[in-house]
Amino acid sequence: MAFGTDVGIDLGTATVLIYVKGKGIVLNEPSVVAVDKVNKIIKKVGIEAQQMLGRAPGTIEPVRPLKDGVISDYDLTEKMIKYFLRKVLGNTSFWPRIMVCVPSSITEVEILAVRNAVKKAGARHVYIIEEPIAAAIGAGIDIIKPCGNMVVDIGGGTTDIAVISLGGVANKTSIKIAGDRFDEALIKYIRRKFNVLIGDRTAQDTKEAIGCVYMPTDVISIPVKGRCLMTGLPKTIDVNSEDMLAAFEEPANAISDAVCRVLEGTEPELVADISKNKIHLTGGGSLVKGLAELLTVRTGIQTVVAEDAVSCVVRGTGIALENEKLFAAISHNALMSD
Ligand SMILES: Nc1ncnc2c1ncn2[C@@H]1O[C@H](COP(=O)(O)OP(=O)(O)OP(=O)(O)O)[C@@H](O)[C@H]1O
Ligand SMILES: [Mg+2]
Repeated sequence: MAFGTDVGIDLGTATVLIYVKGKGIVLNEPSVVAVDKVNKIIKKVGIEAQQMLGRAPGTIEPVRPLKDGVISDYDLTEKMIKYFLRKVLGNTSFWPRIMVCVPSSITEVEILAVRNAVKKAGARHVYIIEEPIAAAIGAGIDIIKPCGNMVVDIGGGTTDIAVISLGGVANKTSIKIAGDRFDEALIKYIRRKFNVLIGDRTAQDTKEAIGCVYMPTDVISIPVKGRCLMTGLPKTIDVNSEDMLAAFEEPANAISDAVCRVLEGTEPELVADISKNKIHLTGGGSLVKGLAELLTVRTGIQTVVAEDAVSCVVRGTGIALENEKLFAAISHNALMSD
């Protein structure tokens, strides 16, 4: 590996993605670490740790070191980043320059925690970039132009809504309602309607299979396994698209209300630009069917899900790392200094 290696990291609540300059996206793993509770030693990281969620033996605890888009366990975050960097770069004595994304509403203290964790994990320089800026670049938007664009990045823990113009964020909000909240809403709904308790993993799988937030063209149903709260025994129930619609009403409305609030507080010229350029959805949470349709109806502005929505943010860091002009433009952003 050469001295000049540049790396982009999307340090997400649910997923970590890594881009290496000249190579592309080289890692996409869940942000989970399995720790031995007795001696605090890390047993597994990423995909292997994820498989242990809900199934680990008593002494091993799978932990998500990030919560709501920010670091909740500093030490584990640093070790997880170090592990992933070693996995993609090998054992090297040359430390890379790293661009890492943070949610737009993160505090100074939280930024410092990300910066220090990445530095300690092996970075020569750390560049911090706001997630919606990276997401917009990854969605193919020319962020430097004096023209308004709206990006809604729906991750696991946070939904970042931003209006971007001239390489900066003109208006933004961030709410702690995103993909994971849909899973929680489904667990609650199934418990209430069927008296059955389902696990986090099952909720996520069901959401990905038939989840929807806007009238589906045809109602489909799938069998879902859980534990009957009356008998304590395993039970399989049929869950259909109408159940999903009802279960997801609350988080979907919270996201669309937040988008409307940002539009209401945005300069009219920029709103006119946005209605011409469409609203762009990125992040894994945007893959719930019908979100684009729901937002189109609620805002009156055509909304589209970006291509390869899950990797937009890390792809954005990659494009910025490969393009000197873009890198220089966004490095004027206050968050960037090392
Ligand atoms: N096909 C799919 N359908 C519905 N939801 C999906 C799909 N794929 C992923 N998700 C959801 O996307 C969310 C994770 O998205 P993403 O990987 O963008 O989050 P993140 O960047 O790690 O989180 P954050 O940005 O909040 O820190 C999870 O809630 C996951 O269940
Ligand atoms: Mg994200």
